[in-house]
This record gives sequence, C-alpha cells and structure tokens, in this order.
Amino acid sequence: MRNNIVAGNWKMNLTFEQALQLANDLNAWATENKPTAKVIIAPTSIYLQAIQEIVDGDFVQVASQDVSNSEKGAYTGDISAEQLDSIGINCAIVGHSERREYQQETDAIIAQKLEQLFNKDITPILCVGEKLEERQAEKHFDVVKSQILNALNPQKAENLTKLVIAYEPVWAIGTGVTASPEQAQEIHAFIRSVLNETYGSEVAENTSILYGGSVNPSNAEELFSQKDIDGGLVGGASLKVEDFSQIIAAFK
Ligand code: G3P
Repeated sequence: MRNNIVAGNWKMNLTFEQALQLANDLNAWATENKPTAKVIIAPTSIYLQAIQEIVDGDFVQVASQDVSNSEKGAYTGDISAEQLDSIGINCAIVGHSERREYQQETDAIIAQKLEQLFNKDITPILCVGEKLEERQAEKHFDVVKSQILNALNPQKAENLTKLVIAYEPVWAIGTGVTASPEQAQEIHAFIRSVLNETYGSEVAENTSILYGGSVNPSNAEELFSQKDIDGGLVGGASLKVEDFSQIIAAFK
C-alpha cells in the first residue's frame, strides 16, 4: 500500500528565523490536525538539523533538497548520503528540474545520487518532467520514461521499496500554469505502467507518484482525487503555512 504524501520544497528561500517559524507553525498545525497524508518539508540544507529538532517526526518528516553523487571526500560544498544519515535525515529530493538545468545534472549523475541514497536506506523523491517544447512536440512520454529508466537503471526491484517519484512538468513549475487533473493523471498512469513493465506490479503499486507544478489550495483536491496521483511536491505554496496546510488537508 503506497502513502499519500504532501512534500514542501522550500528551495533557496527563507532566512533561518523564517524557516524556524514556518517549521514551528506547520508542526503545530500538523500535531493538532493529524493529517492522513504524510507531510514532508525540504528546507535549505544548512537548516536541516535545527528544523529536525523542532518538528515531531510522527507528523512532519524533514528531507534534503539534494545529495552528492559521491560517497565521501574532496567534493567541496557537496553533502553525502552518509552525512544526511548521520543527522537522521531519511528522505531526499533528487533530480529536480532546476538542478538538471542550472547544475547540469544528467541522468547518469542522478543515477549515482540514487545509488548513494539507496546505500544509506534514504528515501529518494526522484523528480522527472518534460519541458514545454517537449510536450508541444508530444515527446513527454518518451522524455519521462527515459528519465525514469536512466535514473533507476542499475537498480533491482528489491531496492525500490522506498522509491517516491515526483512528476513535475517544467512548464508548470513556478508559473501558475498547473497541469490539468486529466493531463497529470495520464502521465502518472504512464509512469506506473513503466514501473510495472520494468520492475513488476509490486513496485508499480507501492510507489507513491506525486504531482508538482503550481499546486495550490484551489487545485489540490481535484489533483489528489485522481487515481494515480498520490500527493504533491509543492514549491511556492509550501512557504505559507495557511496555504500548505490547506493542500495537506485536501487528503480527507
Ligand atoms: O519541487 C516542487 C516545485 O518544483 C514546484 O514549484 O512553486 O510550482 O509549486 P511550484
């Protein structure tokens, strides 16, 4: 049985004080309202430990926004899976489109990052999604399938018990232009079929597939009501507790 998950990707936002305040406010809401969905927040890495100490892990889980593709050593500025594990972080976003674009992260680098996470039993949220021009050329199925298979390539089905995938069409990220529930459901079902063909029905049925790209309180319920949408990876709307809590509450 797969989890319903609502994850907030805070990206490079908030001062330390603002991040502590948001974490406190969200934790207070979550401990009072006991949402049915799993709640994850991904702050900037320098805040991870402080926020980990604030939230109640029974209600709010803290994730990293990235991880090194190397195990340890002379990689200035990188953060290893071992270092995340050493402070109790057991979830990490990998392959976000912004890192693919601005940091030139390739599928091969993302596959190495996944390997590092799997080696430390850290749950990856693997981000995939097509650019506008790829959708306009009707290449979005091919793009998403190759991103998934290239990233997971060396893995065996038994490694994928903790996999989470986030479908984030690049043209919907930060634009206010959300994929329609039908568009999102279509590609989520396709992603599940790719997992089924490649790794079998157990992996396909147990992998949570999140939608990301301009999720907000007004569209969350219809998106999350779709058969193969198991929650959201939320950017801008996760920075306000009143918006993020409404999105979480979309799961009744
Ligand atoms: O990782 C989630 C993010 O890319 C979505 O951003 O602001 O469109 O919700 P936003």
